[in-house]
Amino acid sequence: MLELQNINYSYQSGTSILRNVNATFSPGRVYAIVGSSGCGKSTLLSIMGGLDMPASGNVRFNGKSLMKKDLPEYRKKDVAFIFQSYNLIDYLTAEENLKLVSPLSALPVLEKVGLNCEIAKRNVLKLSGGQQQRVAIARALICDSSLLLADEPTGNLDEENAAAIFDLLIQYAHGPLQGCVVIVTHSPVLAQNADVVLKLENGVLNHVG
Ligand SMILES: Nc1ncnc2c1ncn2[C@@H]1O[C@H](COP(=O)(O)OP(=O)(O)OP(=O)(O)O)[C@@H](O)[C@H]1O
Ligand SMILES: [Mg+2]
Repeated sequence: MLELQNINYSYQSGTSILRNVNATFSPGRVYAIVGSSGCGKSTLLSIMGGLDMPASGNVRFNGKSLMKKDLPEYRKKDVAFIFQSYNLIDYLTAEENLKLVSPLSALPVLEKVGLNCEIAKRNVLKLSGGQQQRVAIARALICDSSLLLADEPTGNLDEENAAAIFDLLIQYAHGPLQGCVVIVTHSPVLAQNADVVLKLENGVLNHVG
């Protein structure tokens, strides 16, 4: 579904963040990307999601280079993103944040991530960090996109909630939707439940185990 071919990337400051990264991501599978803080995991997800372009190399979605695709449409239709910093619209309620991206009913999806009706109707700034994170997860899940990119989706959650969310993400890939799920995580316990574990180190992406 998604192919990374010889991806190189550096920020203006010059240090190389990604070096000749090659990887293939398939439908129906869950990928965990691990690596130390600052190694470039969020940068890599941005490139996969068409939010940033590599300095060289190619990203192909279903065989077509992102450079030749309509990027706003790719971001809207093909990819769902759970941002590390949530990126919720802060003057809206949880429910309204979901309504903005999908005509489907928001409450059942919010319920799935453990947020009840009262919470759904509250302004997101009046929610706890973990509740905001779950709104961001619900907003991605409701899109039913074929590619789901999740940047530290359980970073602010307790063990029990984190495991429940991880189960939902696994369902997204292994259930009828057969989505391709890519999760950046610092949790080795969660990573070991993924189908494939990739480690980013010194700009190089390698399979683990
Ligand atoms: N806009 C930017 N301009 C310059 N450097 C940046 C920019 N964004 C990130 N960086 C640097 O690039 C490196 C990779 O950042 P990135 O956010 O991809 O790391 P990460 O692996 O996601 O880290 P974390 O686990 O802490 O989220 C870091 O050293 C960071 O300081
Ligand atoms: Mg990051």
